[in-house]
Amino acid sequence: MWKKHQNLEKNSIWLVIAILLVVSVGGLVEIAPLFYLESTIEKVKGVRPYTPLEQAGRDIYVREGCYVCHSQMVRPLRDEVERYGHYSLAAESMYDHPFQWGSKRTGPDLARVGGKYSDGWHRDHLMNPRSVVPESNMPPYRFLAETDLDYRAIEARLNALRTVGVPYTDAQIQNAKADLETQVDPFAGEKSGLKKRYGAKIAQRDFDGNPEKLSELDALVAYLQMLGTTVDFRTYKAEDPENLR
Ligand code: HEC
Repeated sequence: MWKKHQNLEKNSIWLVIAILLVVSVGGLVEIAPLFYLESTIEKVKGVRPYTPLEQAGRDIYVREGCYVCHSQMVRPLRDEVERYGHYSLAAESMYDHPFQWGSKRTGPDLARVGGKYSDGWHRDHLMNPRSVVPESNMPPYRFLAETDLDYRAIEARLNALRTVGVPYTDAQIQNAKADLETQVDPFAGEKSGLKKRYGAKIAQRDFDGNPEKLSELDALVAYLQMLGTTVDFRTYKAEDPENLR
């Protein structure tokens, strides 16, 4: 066999043809199945589309360029997992358009920041980061608390996300405005359909501490407080079919 291989090695045209043949077989085996798979992301229990309020908060996060200093992906490395918690799963960002994985970390990763602090802490921190972390170099975002959230286009926003694959239902889109308003109303209770449409775990309260106003801060804090909280990692085990929906 090695003798025959000499022929290939001495004749560059045949060698190129042979290389192309071998590489294309490898390519076909790896690439062709992807066209027949509906999704390469394993579904995980608990992962859900954002509520309208969280989505509005996410849009503010992108608008303000928080990603310039913050990543949102815990890498599967020991130091990261010990600092931030369970490494990020692909499913956790499957409804993100655009995703916020990032690589720049002037500040810490935020993929698991949900529930780490109180709403009040986030409020103080966004108003003036130095008031809670004296050595911080994060800029203040005081105007968020003073600016009314503009959610006139929220239905169209969810609809656009549905076009790119987020499975919002008709009911979720039709009720987008009402759901957004009830999420900041702690007294709306069970009669609003918010929890029915998005799950019982949805946090429903006044996030910015000012019940008079539905501000941009409400939306941003609602988003920060749910980051990384949809999957229950006390029961999650990779490869366990129980986790699949
Ligand atoms: C110029 C860089 C910079 C920008 C822009 C920035 N941050 Fe930060 N952020 C930091 C730094 C540095 C820290 C760590 C010190 C601190 O807690 O303030 C931090 C900390 C945080 C924390 C606390 C994280 C933790 O686990 O303790 C949150 C939450 C946060 N930022 C949210 C935001 C949001 C939301 C925005 C956009 C509105 C934003 N940041 C924009 C630099 C930045």
